[in-house]
Amino acid sequence: MSDEYILEIENLTKDFPGVRALDKVNLRVKRGEIHSLCGENGAGKSTLMSAISGVYPKGSYEGKVFFKGHETNYHSVKDSEKEGLAIIHQELALSPYLSIYENIFLGHMKTRFGIIKWDTYIKESQKYLDRVGLKENPATVVSKMGVGKQQLVEIARALSKHAELLILDEPTSSLNDDESAKLLDLILEFKRQGITSIMISHKLNEVLKIADSVTVLRDGKSISTFNVKEAKLTEAMIIKDMVGRDLTNRFPERSSVPGETVMEVKNWTVYHPEYHAIKVVDSVSFYLRKGEILAFCGPMGAGRTELMMSLYGNSYGFHSEGELFIHGKKTSLNSARAAIGEGLGYVSEDRKNLGLVLIQSIKNNISSSSLSKLSQFGVVAAQREFEEAEKYRNELRIKTPSINQLVRNLSGGNQQKVVLSRTLLANPDIFIVDEPTRGIDVGAKTEIYQILNDLVSQGKSVIMVSSELPEALGMADRIYVMNEGKIKGMLNHDEATQEKIMHMALVN
Ligand SMILES: Nc1ncnc2c1ncn2[C@@H]1O[C@H](COP(=O)(O)OP(=O)(O)OP(=O)(O)O)[C@@H](O)[C@H]1O
Ligand SMILES: [Mg+2]
Repeated sequence: MSDEYILEIENLTKDFPGVRALDKVNLRVKRGEIHSLCGENGAGKSTLMSAISGVYPKGSYEGKVFFKGHETNYHSVKDSEKEGLAIIHQELALSPYLSIYENIFLGHMKTRFGIIKWDTYIKESQKYLDRVGLKENPATVVSKMGVGKQQLVEIARALSKHAELLILDEPTSSLNDDESAKLLDLILEFKRQGITSIMISHKLNEVLKIADSVTVLRDGKSISTFNVKEAKLTEAMIIKDMVGRDLTNRFPERSSVPGETVMEVKNWTVYHPEYHAIKVVDSVSFYLRKGEILAFCGPMGAGRTELMMSLYGNSYGFHSEGELFIHGKKTSLNSARAAIGEGLGYVSEDRKNLGLVLIQSIKNNISSSSLSKLSQFGVVAAQREFEEAEKYRNELRIKTPSINQLVRNLSGGNQQKVVLSRTLLANPDIFIVDEPTRGIDVGAKTEIYQILNDLVSQGKSVIMVSSELPEALGMADRIYVMNEGKIKGMLNHDEATQEKIMHMALVN
């Protein structure tokens, strides 16, 4: 073992019932570098990181892992943390009702004569908050902060354990451009301090911006490792190894022309669920036509998700006011059920809390919004349910040995595909999709874009909330730009550019 590498993985193989998730994977990470791990949804990235950090204990996989020159023998995450390896999972794992400092020191607080010295911990945690650049009181309850800040608390927690190797599983997937840029800077700063990082990401532009090396996994196998500078690595080169072929057109063409207005919103205002004086959505008006894709852009906290959830059967906010017209008829939708009844479908951005029943099968999750459609005489037709779920598994390439598999066992991106399948099966006229491609690999993204295009060609309408500007620019007929709860302007497909959107969001 040479001193050059902080981590060496030799022939790591990991099986789950019916799936070989990792197949003789080899990976070497140099001390002090930023190493990116890329691959399609279900390629095995998260599983590999879980295996080396003790989430999957020694003995539950084959092969060898060396950390700092010694073969590891971890039986839990605690074991790897003790040696300086810290992992920040794809789905954040903070305790939402505890404070920042409690989260930072949770599980590794030292007591003196059995007494925890809270003051010391508050002071100590301030030190780590400074290091990650988070300006919050350490006593702030975590659930009161956005995802971006929660992410920083996770990193502060890792630093507090003196991490030498930091593993970040899709750290920017829920962050906006600004927050992402700050996080990437932070990882670069850690590099200057001698900390090694492994970053899993589907955002290849970010990978190329900060990584020294890139390893590509495909179907559980390590396909290639590149030195970014020496190989003059490009996104296309990474994609080719990820999918095993060239991928040319990321945004498929569409030639449909929007028709009559199907939905119109006038002066829609939504009040904060707890602080009733605050307007999270402020007098918003817009319209949606048949066969049209609308995108809503704007910084995190602009009120886009709150607007969509409140339109979808008042499922957000203390109170909302304004008018909603569907097919020209004024409607008041007081529940999600009423919204479904009016032909609306909603795909949530937060699959963990709002989207899926993790302990149920893929099939049951897909069919759950369409049970009456799939039933005859009050009984669910099992064969049809099976066929429909199979159809979506194939169309969206959900990676699993069987649709009877529990959703919990799917990779992050494949869970997202299940959420989409469920709404597609329910077959609404108006699709509201919130960050539909978050955590989805480049190849599957294009498939989802194709599906959205097919929907509008069939005369359906799509409202898309997207933080990825290229996606909004590539897909939408019109783009509404929001900030601070208000619509700041609207751009047609032909006139829209990234600069115009950003400018519109920020002026007055
Ligand atoms: N607990 C489990 N039981 C059964 N299969 C599993 C389990 N965990 C993961 N898998 C399977 O192992 C494979 C690799 O999954 P993994 O989560 O590592 O993918 P990933 O590369 O991280 O994908 P993504 O980009 O979607 O997050 C997938 O086919 C997944 O369904
Ligand atoms: Mg993953």
